[in-house]
Amino acid sequence: MQGKRIVIGITGGIAAFKAASLVSQLVQRGAEVRVIMTQSATQFITPLTFQTLSRNHVFTDTFEERNPKVVSHIDLADHADLFVIAPATANIISKIAHGLADDMLTTTVLATEAPVCFAPAMNVHMYQNVIIQENINRLQSLGYHLIEPGEGQLACGYVGRGRMAEPEVILEWIEWYFQKKACLTGKKILVTAGPTIEPIDPVRYFSNHSSGKMGYAIAEAAEKAGADVTLISGPVAIRPPARVKRIEVKRAIEMREAVMGCLSEMDIIVKTAAVADYRPRNVFDQKIKKDQETLTVELEKNPDIAMEIGKQKRRDQFFVGFAAETENVENYAREKLAKKGMDLIVANQVSIPGIGFGSDQNQVVIYDAEGEVCRLPKMDKKSIAAQIISLIGERMNDC
Ligand code: PMT
Repeated sequence: MQGKRIVIGITGGIAAFKAASLVSQLVQRGAEVRVIMTQSATQFITPLTFQTLSRNHVFTDTFEERNPKVVSHIDLADHADLFVIAPATANIISKIAHGLADDMLTTTVLATEAPVCFAPAMNVHMYQNVIIQENINRLQSLGYHLIEPGEGQLACGYVGRGRMAEPEVILEWIEWYFQKKACLTGKKILVTAGPTIEPIDPVRYFSNHSSGKMGYAIAEAAEKAGADVTLISGPVAIRPPARVKRIEVKRAIEMREAVMGCLSEMDIIVKTAAVADYRPRNVFDQKIKKDQETLTVELEKNPDIAMEIGKQKRRDQFFVGFAAETENVENYAREKLAKKGMDLIVANQVSIPGIGFGSDQNQVVIYDAEGEVCRLPKMDKKSIAAQIISLIGERMNDC
């Protein structure tokens, strides 16, 4: 926990008093804790309590700009390694699920790129309410984390599910989260991303719609998980994540050369790139003139890089492929997994609108040799990447 920057959001419920113990224990473990309270939370416990425990100013008002050099909610949003909202009322869950930003806590949560975890606390009937359950499901499908409330005597007199998880349970989750996040420390990972382009003449080429977003998200998640990342990328319009070594290539044969050149030193290989299966047999030296009614371009097969990796990889190397399919997704993906010697394959049905090529979102099913491992609903590619990396971490650490 040493040096981890954790922002704790506290909302208006009686369980707010338990947050004091959470903040105190986090600080004792070396975390740097900042606290944001809603106005309702201040009805239950004072900001002074959290200021004393966290040894930092407590934020309650979006417009209280103490430092003219920064905008407070953006500064706090950028500062966080992790956001924990405990207790999370029905109100805050619903507001975040619908993108509302009407106080310091909601504006900061919307602005943060850090993972957000919420620990609900409310009356049992409120918790079971279908609207709240839908909002919780929505948040989870968007990559927010949930620490389930416990069952028992509630402050309102009812008995049932709705008690905020005990501070020790939340602490355990936070510790588990940071350990899981660092699951690739010391590992070398090779990620391929983007399309390849196969020239026809000096001005034209064959290619596909890959934007590189999925592969770059994998590279970023791997770097955050502590890996040493090499990213071999086809031509894309995105910047490489910080601290990632990028090797730029254009054609499939260049990608093959780059991959095979460093394969032996890698612990993990993730092939997200959309490699062209064929290339023109002859590349014209000069621009082709449009003096014929039809034009035939003969194509020859490109090397199947994944197939070569599968044949050469050592037992201690972990290999993940992707499958972009428009139909029979499971069959084709599992066939590729077996044929190309992959440990996992991430299948996306690219005919579904709004996911796959070019989009910021994806929806995938992951298979291993035994069958389906997990199914991730439509969510942004960064969240999908984080889940793929944590699955690789689990599998590697089992090896
Ligand atoms: O880049 P984005 O816009 O974010 O889009 C993401 C994506 C749709 C490209 C990505 O999610 C994805 O599905 N990537 C794999 C695309 C693909 O080429 O799938 P495939 O089913 O044709 O190939 C199967 C596997 O073999 C892939 O791991 C591929 O990298 C590899 N392959 C394919 C052909 C070839 N000649 N050499 C290879 O290594």
